[in-house]
Amino acid sequence: MKQQLLEQFNKIFGGEGEEAKVYFAPGRVNLIGEHTDYNGGHVFPCALTIGTYGVARKRNDRMLHMYSMNFKELGVIGSSLDDLTPSKEAGWTNYPKGVIWAFLQKGMEVTNGMDLLLFGNIPNGSGLSSSASVEVLTGAILRDMYGFEVFNQDLALIGQYAENRYNGVNCGIMDQFAIAMGKADNAIFLDTATMQYEYAPISLKGAKLVISCSNKKRGLGDSKYNERRSECETALAELQKAVDIRTLGDLDEAQFEKYKAAIRDDVRVRRARHAVYENQRTIKAVAALKADDIEEFGRLMNASHVSLRDDYEVTGLELDTLVEEAWKVEGVIGSRMTGAGFGGCTVSIVKDGAIEAFKEQVGKKYRETVGYDADFYVVEIGGGPAIL
Ligand code: GLA
Repeated sequence: MKQQLLEQFNKIFGGEGEEAKVYFAPGRVNLIGEHTDYNGGHVFPCALTIGTYGVARKRNDRMLHMYSMNFKELGVIGSSLDDLTPSKEAGWTNYPKGVIWAFLQKGMEVTNGMDLLLFGNIPNGSGLSSSASVEVLTGAILRDMYGFEVFNQDLALIGQYAENRYNGVNCGIMDQFAIAMGKADNAIFLDTATMQYEYAPISLKGAKLVISCSNKKRGLGDSKYNERRSECETALAELQKAVDIRTLGDLDEAQFEKYKAAIRDDVRVRRARHAVYENQRTIKAVAALKADDIEEFGRLMNASHVSLRDDYEVTGLELDTLVEEAWKVEGVIGSRMTGAGFGGCTVSIVKDGAIEAFKEQVGKKYRETVGYDADFYVVEIGGGPAIL
């Protein structure tokens, strides 16, 4: 892989000058704890062995020349450090550019341009965080190129800062954190209120993680995402008139039931109920996993989906079809949508012997119901950013 990428790089940018280096940052999947990261709750994601490869070389001038093997038709997209404003024409390069901008904002002097070639093997538009992967990758490249003293955790925060301030998506910290802090065979139990985290080994013993990709691109998703965030913020402000809390994650189920009348609108009650119950479910799921009770973990995954469908309303026909059919397949331990929703993919824990039947049955139902194919990937849990 490394050799092929370097060859591609030399073909596009020429082999002259300083030697180019090859980097990698993973994608991520969230096992449980959805739409909790901007509500002061817990999340439980893991990094994947699939992700984004980058070949980079410092330039002598201030030009940025970027090429993606996933968007070959766009060719080399050029820009300059002297004009880092985001633009539509910049396309995918707004992600690496946003991170360069964020480094500069944080006082780290990126003085030279670079040639950058990317290749991602995260399925396109799947909701496995290809953009956060590119962000953390760019941070890892800059750190190595300039010797900046930033920890992996900082790469996550800088990536989120770039996404929020440069690319205008008001996302939480989960994706960038899962990618920057990834550890092979472990998921990360992160409390987004305190940023304390612990690794939890995932040994599925005779089962695998299967991603079902709906092939429905997000589209409207980003605006809906910001809408959900503000519904939760309003519900929190209403609750704060009745009870002393900092985030929705401060409440358990009983406290929520006690104070929910303070929320003046039924839709907001449901949004907040999801945030509170999902946070508690995540805590319970990690406890179940530690107790080696994978069946309970699976039941909590299923309950998470129901709540995202009925209370948070971020699923839709595609994700519901994938999950509800998965529940019918014998050997499925748990299945739910993962990521922001409105498209993207689902995550299921499926016993080894049932994986073929799963693909066939869920694939058939999906085609019949939605009219096009879903894609299935058996994935493995990998580490964080790396220099190859
Ligand atoms: C997206 C965001 C994350 C998180 C999830 C939902 O992936 O980037 O911060 O909010 O949606 O859990």
